[in-house]
Amino acid sequence: MSGETLARLLARRIVVDGPLSVGAFMGEALGHPRFGYYMRQDPFGAGGDFTTAPEISQMFGELVGLWCVDTWARLGGPAPFHLIELGPGRGTLMRDALRAAAMVPAFAQAATVHLVETSPSLRARQRETLSGVAVHWHDRLEDVPEGPTLLVANEFFDALPIRQIQKTPHGWFERLVDLDPAGTEDAPRFRFVLEAFGSSGNRLVPESLRDSPDGSVVEVSPASLSVAGTIGARLAAHPGAALAIDYGYTHGPAVGDTLQALRRHAYAPVLDDPGEADLTAHVDFAALAAAARAAGADAFLPVDQGEWLERLGIRQRAAALSARATPKQAADIRAALARLIEPEQMGKLFKALAFATPGLFAQGNAPAGFALA
Ligand SMILES: C[S@@+](CC[C@H](N)C(=O)[O-])C[C@H]1O[C@@H](n2cnc3c(N)ncnc32)[C@H](O)[C@@H]1O
Repeated sequence: MSGETLARLLARRIVVDGPLSVGAFMGEALGHPRFGYYMRQDPFGAGGDFTTAPEISQMFGELVGLWCVDTWARLGGPAPFHLIELGPGRGTLMRDALRAAAMVPAFAQAATVHLVETSPSLRARQRETLSGVAVHWHDRLEDVPEGPTLLVANEFFDALPIRQIQKTPHGWFERLVDLDPAGTEDAPRFRFVLEAFGSSGNRLVPESLRDSPDGSVVEVSPASLSVAGTIGARLAAHPGAALAIDYGYTHGPAVGDTLQALRRHAYAPVLDDPGEADLTAHVDFAALAAAARAAGADAFLPVDQGEWLERLGIRQRAAALSARATPKQAADIRAALARLIEPEQMGKLFKALAFATPGLFAQGNAPAGFALA
């Protein structure tokens, strides 16, 4: 047998422990300390598997930075405060945000930068991108010291594990990942099965979806709800606000199988070659908002990314950048602008959601680009 792979490791685990939940499979595929997708490589950009908004254009991080400055000012300019990013990728968003925020030196002086990142290789990449900035890295949000907070997370929640529960004529059963008999010990293959007794999955199905047709799949992300709860509790205890941008739906709870794998900018079978492809699922924004509210924070209505960026002035920023650009650069700026805001590109699928300390941003004074729910 040649070297160890995550597929072989998971196959042996399934032989010993039985089938894995989709969440356990996804968690290992993305986060296994040695073989997890994010642990080993830099997946971003044209040469990688996917591209994110901060990698498309500096305008994205700049506007997030200005949102932070404006929100901080409306909080009364707490000093010091924690500027936290969850899942910062290459560090590009934070770099562009800090460059834009440098216009307000008091903000930059008051900010302590915290990056919550589990991947050592991406931490190294962030260190390069943010050289010259004093950065504190953490494995978990809970490890960031308490205090006034501004938190941002772009395409973080879509990377957190989900569980899937499927309706059958006999009730709701959790989907599990089992060995596919077509595989071998050397080259294992995986397939979806349903749990045998239907008790663990059953409990996760929201009341409003219980009568869905047979075959319907409900997704729940306990890991995301836990992070949203931690954000909510933090904002309930200290003045602050949080901004999460991701792709997903606002009409939840809803049925639908949204788990997908991306490899070199193309969809791939989700159970093939764990650790080699990015696995994501649509984010249930209503569930995130409910979890943050339950923990004591205010949550604002989610806004389409395109609309949110327009409200923050992305067209003006694009015009300012184009005014001193070469024709080729101006064309690139136009293309990036379209990619970020056009409805058929990222503009509608991606949404922005904000949370804040209760009562600090009353109606008419919501964080920039948002309205109170
Ligand atoms: C899809 S990338 C988004 C990167 C970046 N925000 C961007 O927009 O380019 C997801 C990021 O979250 C990190 N990540 C995934 N799961 C995590 C977890 N449980 N805790 C902390 N970071 C995590 C990944 O290593 C990666 O940096």
